[in-house]
Amino acid sequence: MIKQESIENLKSIIDIVDVIGNYVQLKKQGSNFVALCPFHSEKTPSFVVSPTKQIYHCFGCGVSGDAIKFIMEIEKLTYKEAIEKLASMYNFKLEYTKGNSFIHLDLLERVNSFYISNLYKNENALNYLKQRGLYDSTIEKFQLGYAPTSHEQFKFFKNANLNKKDLIELGVLNESGEYPRLIERITFPIFSQNGKIIAFGGRTITNHPAKYINFTNTKIFNKSKTFYGLNFAREHILRSKKIIITEGYMDVIMLHQAGIQNAVATLGTALTKEHLPILKKLNPKVIISYDSDSAGINAALKASKLLYKEFFDGGVVLFEEGKDPADIVKEGKNIENIFKNEIDFSSFIIEFTIKKYDLKNPIHKKNAIDEFKNYIKELPEILKDDFSIKASQYLQIPPNILKVKTKHIQNLNLNKKIDIAEASIIKTLYENPEIMDEIIEYLTPEMFNTHFYELDAVYKEDFENPKLLEIVLRDDIKTLDIKTLKNQIRKLLIPYYQKKQLEIKYNKNLSNEEKMHYLKEINLKLIKLKKGELVESDIPI
Ligand code: UTP
Ligand code: MN
Repeated sequence: MIKQESIENLKSIIDIVDVIGNYVQLKKQGSNFVALCPFHSEKTPSFVVSPTKQIYHCFGCGVSGDAIKFIMEIEKLTYKEAIEKLASMYNFKLEYTKGNSFIHLDLLERVNSFYISNLYKNENALNYLKQRGLYDSTIEKFQLGYAPTSHEQFKFFKNANLNKKDLIELGVLNESGEYPRLIERITFPIFSQNGKIIAFGGRTITNHPAKYINFTNTKIFNKSKTFYGLNFAREHILRSKKIIITEGYMDVIMLHQAGIQNAVATLGTALTKEHLPILKKLNPKVIISYDSDSAGINAALKASKLLYKEFFDGGVVLFEEGKDPADIVKEGKNIENIFKNEIDFSSFIIEFTIKKYDLKNPIHKKNAIDEFKNYIKELPEILKDDFSIKASQYLQIPPNILKVKTKHIQNLNLNKKIDIAEASIIKTLYENPEIMDEIIEYLTPEMFNTHFYELDAVYKEDFENPKLLEIVLRDDIKTLDIKTLKNQIRKLLIPYYQKKQLEIKYNKNLSNEEKMHYLKEINLKLIKLKKGELVESDIPI
């Protein structure tokens, strides 16, 4: 069976105009396209394709549906076959639920045992953990290990007869299978909610510049849906009706060791929308406990905005500058009391938004008001008044200044045309800022047709930008895994470079020689793109 999630990801990249355009000649008419209906014979076109609604409809014979239905009808395929056909058209790799996926899980358990046995062979690694204040029982409970040299790992994989393809697929080896993802690092197995290993994270003990490396998303691991430690914390969360969300592996481990067993961590990302269904099921009071550096505060602000809007009870706990929960536990301070003194979400949002502005300066004050107005627009009706009143007190302005007209907002959203392909790229970058450095090499804002402004905002890390928020807060825009992301970018780059070629051909300011040169360069790029590779955006003109 094809995984539903995989089908959804595919759907988010396919464009019905593209798909149907392969079978019939489409002509633009207003915001739609029209054609002679391929399902009945006619002389004047009554077959309409809507790019915004992503559906087709024939006013002549009444057929209608989405891209999948179209492929099923025209190619006489089953649903599954149509999905597979579309996937191959888009060079998209579908994920299947396999009957044998427990074999895969078993593979990670075996790799884990190997890492654990190596920890006890490596004095440095074990000492490191002791120095950080971990008890033996804690090391055992969290099944910490040590990934030795690449050479030793390959020796083990061979002796244990582990399949290279599976090792790549589950993230143990990098994409080309050349080296293990974690080398000479302390290993932290990441468990699913019911205690199966789904990935690993690894910490350097030799000051490698990448302090932590986590597995990239695989078919069994999705970073933005996983809480580290939830398998251990689950029952404590249900009992105490409270969850503590921290930033890192060590925070979780040290808190559990100190008896605070309802602690979990997000994995190198802020809390995302995708985490919310898990939280909603547990329905606890949520305490956000991130590091008090600026990255931590920004992440806490983002998490608070998300949680407040979704009616979660709870708030934020901040530690002294530069310290995180793990440090406080190691210092032997009574941490339990700290967790009782959270700043509730709305107060935190207000206080820390205001901190960015100098309210004595009228221009700053106006900007602060605008920022609040934009957030209030996103709030459900019943929270709007509460929040406006509270914020206006902090700003010392009459509450009606923060009033936003609901009707106006609805119009704004309806009128806005969203390009799903571009928007999902933007949302993915927003949720995973750590991949931006790489992506910016291939994709620059002017390559977008519709959302260049929002792409620019995300690159500038202007995460409060209202236009950007309008995209990232939409439920219908999906976050992509890295592979899909790259593929989607590739799909956008092909027409971009083709257009660029035309521009060069008709550019009067270039000599023929220059034209030849640029056209050749772009051609090389197009060849690579069509082969499935991404290319750097180093176009000179
Ligand atoms: P921190 O840098 O706060 O880690 O990053 P930490 O847990 O306090 O590290 P220690 O105490 O020095 O060991 C928080 C989390 O962000 C992710 C990891 O998941 C980490 O636990 N991270 C951090 C990375 O993925 N890569 C990095 O290079 C750093
Ligand atoms: Mn930390």
